[in-house]
Amino acid sequence: MRNMRALLGAAVLLGTMRAALTQVGLLPPAQVHFDSVDYKTTVLWTPPSNSSSLKYFVQWKIYGEPLWVNVNHCQGIQKPKCNLSDVTSDLTEWYYARVQVSSPAATSPWALSRRFSPRWDSKISPPFLRLNSTQRGITVRVKPPRAQVRKKHRDLFFKIYLTRENGQEEEWEMNCCFHKLNIKNVKRKAQYCLQAQTVLPLQARRSMRSEAVCITSK
Ligand SMILES: *[C@@H]1O[C@H](CO)[C@@H](O)[C@H](O)[C@H]1NC(C)=O
Ligand SMILES: *[C@@H]1O[C@H](CO)[C@@H](O)[C@H](O)[C@H]1NC(C)=O
Ligand SMILES: *[C@@H]1O[C@H](CO)[C@@H](O)[C@H](O)[C@H]1NC(C)=O
Repeated sequence: MRNMRALLGAAVLLGTMRAALTQVGLLPPAQVHFDSVDYKTTVLWTPPSNSSSLKYFVQWKIYGEPLWVNVNHCQGIQKPKCNLSDVTSDLTEWYYARVQVSSPAATSPWALSRRFSPRWDSKISPPFLRLNSTQRGITVRVKPPRAQVRKKHRDLFFKIYLTRENGQEEEWEMNCCFHKLNIKNVKRKAQYCLQAQTVLPLQARRSMRSEAVCITSK
């Protein structure tokens, strides 16, 4: 009789433990965050474990709206990232994303991102420079930014920085997008290094300066 009760007790205890384990289930993804450059926007997260059987489900919504919307191309995906460029294209809105993970045995709670503003949180790239040197000086061509950036900022312009032989810096402003700059007064057989920056005047924002590009004059 006493043995019977002890057995029963053990069975109840085991049952409770199993219920507790099921409730714990699967941890949600960690560090759900946006990464955005020139309005190419991705949401990324850290997998809760390195199991290869995990699948992720991503939803998004606009700040202030009650409804979450499935990101169609990010349902049951295995990579820990999702391209949200198409749904986060309105510069005046703020967005959220959330991610859920499921394994064959369980589904996690949702993990929420912080609020994302394409207008303020998307980084703007500096432009690429192409240089050529002729007898008459140095020609600088600026590769225009991607169409999404040009369309959203019709007033954007570039700053071009030149470091002279004596270390002094000169700068120019160039309108977007298909112009070239001719730098005269260059010494022969000297090295000139240039950098460029994208400026968005209405928003008082600018990109980082590009890496320096150098050329030896003719
Ligand atoms: C998961 O990571 C742990 C620790 O890094 C490692 O020991 C284990 O083999 C990994 N499992 C799989 C399925 O990759
Ligand atoms: C994300 O989607 C946009 C729009 O469809 C596309 O232009 C961009 O190249 C994609 N980015 C990546 C990293 O796949
Ligand atoms: C540089 O300019 C010269 C003279 O206009 C031209 O012949 C040459 O092809 C140019 N080189 C590049 C890399 O654009």
